[in-house]
Amino acid sequence: MTILGPIKPIESQAADAAHRLRPTLSWYHLIALGVGAIVGTGIYTLTGVGAERAGPAVILAFAIAGAVCACAALAYAEMATLIPTSGSAYTYTYSVIGETVAWVVGWSLILEYSLACSAVAVGWSGYLVGWLQSAGVWLPEALLSSPHAGGLVNMPAVLVSLTVAGLLMAGTRESATLNIVLVIIKLTALAAFVVMALPAFDIANLKPFMPYGFISHVEGGETRGVMAAAAIIFFAFYGFDAVATSAEETRNPGRDLKIGIIGSMAVCTLIYMAVALAAIGAMPYTALGKSPEPLALVLRTLGHPGASYIVAGAALVALPSVILVMMYGQSRVFFVMARDGLLPHGLAKVSPRTGSPLLITGLTGVFVAGVAGFFRLDEIAELANAGTLIAFIAVGACLMILRKRAPDLERVFRCPAPYLVGTGAIVGCVYLLASLPTHTLTRFLIWNLIGLAVYFVYSRSRSLMKKGREAA
Ligand code: ALA
Repeated sequence: MTILGPIKPIESQAADAAHRLRPTLSWYHLIALGVGAIVGTGIYTLTGVGAERAGPAVILAFAIAGAVCACAALAYAEMATLIPTSGSAYTYTYSVIGETVAWVVGWSLILEYSLACSAVAVGWSGYLVGWLQSAGVWLPEALLSSPHAGGLVNMPAVLVSLTVAGLLMAGTRESATLNIVLVIIKLTALAAFVVMALPAFDIANLKPFMPYGFISHVEGGETRGVMAAAAIIFFAFYGFDAVATSAEETRNPGRDLKIGIIGSMAVCTLIYMAVALAAIGAMPYTALGKSPEPLALVLRTLGHPGASYIVAGAALVALPSVILVMMYGQSRVFFVMARDGLLPHGLAKVSPRTGSPLLITGLTGVFVAGVAGFFRLDEIAELANAGTLIAFIAVGACLMILRKRAPDLERVFRCPAPYLVGTGAIVGCVYLLASLPTHTLTRFLIWNLIGLAVYFVYSRSRSLMKKGREAA
């Protein structure tokens, strides 16, 4: 017990059989889960938003966000192999810092995963509408966008969210296998984009490189600067943490998790740099920044309408894989918090048929669909980023605290230069958090105040750790 609530002993992480998730996943499922979660709306759509905020230096924003995420990924890999149960950052924090901070991290993860799903669903809907319109199909405007954009509800975003939730409820294994196919389609489309756009590379498009400077600031009512771009581009990189949430369902966690987390992160960083460079080099950033479908726009502008149609079509088929992995991560975090007694325990029941928590997955699907139907893409993505940054900060802290407190604990994966990497993750994430717009930070604060109220009114007294301690 610490001032920050009870600590869950690392040795007691094995759950009782009735509440255990079935181990069905291998390293290639995990790389596919990682890439499936990482490559999505961030690269397909937010590249344009980043270019608008930073100019050609959006490439630098990619590098900064990637470097911070690389530190976090290394910290995750050590923690995930040390504590291979579901729950990722929430579970690590519970075991290293204490229940109250773990609650804040878990509550932030709920925000991360569900809002990331909603953001990708909205991005997907945008591609669908453009794609259908270029094929001559026009659907009723009111059902294609949320109220802020002049519609009633973003129906495609709602439907894709609910469909993915249904897939997950049908069973982890089936969904992971389908995910592999979708990942291949998505990567092929991005490779095709680079091959077609790179020949048009013009160095003149990179000048001036940093028209709005480095630090995040407001200019003419708009958020600008390389760090402002990095704070939203950060969205493009996460997802590898969803791999860590599947630790308990991994056949050989020691080997598979480190390959899964670091492998998917490395693959994606390389692809992003190539795609961003090809896009920025192909046309002026001002045109890129205005587009809701920047990659398709580049190809159309270069005179490849057919290729543009195919790349957009591939995005449509494949972006739901991001929702799939994120929703999977979300239901698992919820599941573990319920299993710990912090959320209603009945929610943690695993279906004997599919081995996954049905009720939580269903509720998550409905929440994600609701947000996707009625809110704005950039604001959803920024709030999701805030939640993720808190989780990454916590994991960086856990890595360093545990190295100090328990240096001899057997570690399957040892993070190199742990204090440097941990500090890099924390400082980088704090700087990215501070670079988010003020309204996002305010909303994030409100979300966590609500969370703390739930914790002190409901969860704290029901915590199984606390009850076990009192009984002892
Ligand atoms: N990294 C994921 C995406 O870009 C969340 O869609």
